[in-house]
Amino acid sequence: MTTQATEAAAAATLTSRHLLGIAGMTADEIGLVLDTAIAMKEIGGRAIKKVPTLRGRTIVNLFFEPSTRTRTSFEIAEKRLSADTLSIAAATSSVTKGESLLDTVRNIEAMSPDMIVMRHASSGAPHLLARTCRSAIVNAGDGMHEHPTQALLDAFTIREHKGRLAGLKVAIIGDLLHSRVLRSNVILLNTMGAEVWACGPSTLMPPGIGGFGVRATTSVDEAVEGADVVMMLRIQHERMHGHFIPSVREYFTLFGLTPERARRARSDVIIMHPGPMNRGVEIDSEVADGPYSVILEQVSNGVAVRMAVLYLLAGRDIDVERGEG
Ligand code: CP
Repeated sequence: MTTQATEAAAAATLTSRHLLGIAGMTADEIGLVLDTAIAMKEIGGRAIKKVPTLRGRTIVNLFFEPSTRTRTSFEIAEKRLSADTLSIAAATSSVTKGESLLDTVRNIEAMSPDMIVMRHASSGAPHLLARTCRSAIVNAGDGMHEHPTQALLDAFTIREHKGRLAGLKVAIIGDLLHSRVLRSNVILLNTMGAEVWACGPSTLMPPGIGGFGVRATTSVDEAVEGADVVMMLRIQHERMHGHFIPSVREYFTLFGLTPERARRARSDVIIMHPGPMNRGVEIDSEVADGPYSVILEQVSNGVAVRMAVLYLLAGRDIDVERGEG
């Protein structure tokens, strides 16, 4: 581990044994995760990308919604920390036969896992489990509520490029109404002292968004002007019940991030997207693949940040290099 990360990890720990959301985390706790992730990233750069830290711990990944990045990066993070790990997709589980979430988890818990990483379409589902389960629960995205590890990896990526979070102008643009990524990022960035702008069509803005601690606007130009960071969000058709935008073409014309719009940002702007990305809807390919894009760095950093979260939750008493408690 680097000296900086060792000191950070030794200085504090997370108060909760679960990670249910960014809400409730202090700036110190967020800083601890980000500092710990520096050491975890170093492990990922080695020829042998594995440490025995979580040897003998069992982690179950329980995904009730589709995922590419989150599920894969949790699995890689768990393997790099030497945990015994298995993944269950709802589509191939007995949930399809009518078993409830609580019964499913009670049965998994009967096999004595140490942690359960869960994604679920219902906001609050991980909180329900945390009240009844012995295992530590990690929220991998719950409905429209929170996606805490996404916000942590976003913050890690921003800090790598900008050296800080405080004082930055961060513009988050897209489907704000249905986005758990927005919610977690707003809470985290506010806690760390960034200035957050939220931009989208008025039909896709949560009611009372001004009370969330963001500057809300329907003008992409205003949001992007002088921004240090521009984060694009996709339209979440799977959570929409009704018509929120007239057409994809019109949406791209009014809210898509084009090279012309991106030029309004600072000359050292970074362009982010949590994925999955819809090219030609919220973002132009020239921007997504351009020199300011850090979208694939976000994905790489997801492994390091998730390793840090698992280590801090499951391995409070473990030496990260030797895996000894
Ligand atoms: N960012 C994110 O959550 O992507 P996945 O849905 O692919 O996990």
